[in-house]
Amino acid sequence: MAELTRTLVFVKPDGVQRGLVGEIIARFERRGIRIVGLKMVQPTRELAERHYAVHREKPFFESVVNFITSGPVVAMVLECPNAVETVRQMMGATNPLNAAPGTIRGDFGLDIERNLIHGSSDPEAAEYEIKLWFRPEELLP
Ligand code: TYD
Ligand code: MG
Repeated sequence: MAELTRTLVFVKPDGVQRGLVGEIIARFERRGIRIVGLKMVQPTRELAERHYAVHREKPFFESVVNFITSGPVVAMVLECPNAVETVRQMMGATNPLNAAPGTIRGDFGLDIERNLIHGSSDPEAAEYEIKLWFRPEELLP
């Protein structure tokens, strides 16, 4: 099997409010992806702004930070071969209107902001985001 890597995922406030946490986690479990950290978090503004720091100059920055801090999220670290890309494929395109059926966003979403789930965009982002969201002792070895 290919080398195992890790990625940071969270079910966004819309997914939690709609009762889709179990459905989303079940998809990762059925795929065979290993959950190495899992917790419910009410994101602070500071956490959200750090998380989306690469988007600070984008027109949607304020709105996405407001949305992510609007309610609890369920954050997890997932481990599998090529974790970033594997999870991104299961999530589908950023805009659910463009996301393929069979993906999480394509099956459950219609709105580009309320798009259910975050997954790290590349391995460098994954490393940064895992450290931002989890303490080392919260993760399985
Ligand atoms: P981005 O990192 O581009 O997407 P992804 O979550 O697929 O990695 O954008 C971060 C989030 O910002 C995205 O999930 C939803 C929100 N967003 C908007 O609200 N409007 C936009 O035009 C874009 C590109 C993103
Ligand atoms: Mg992104």
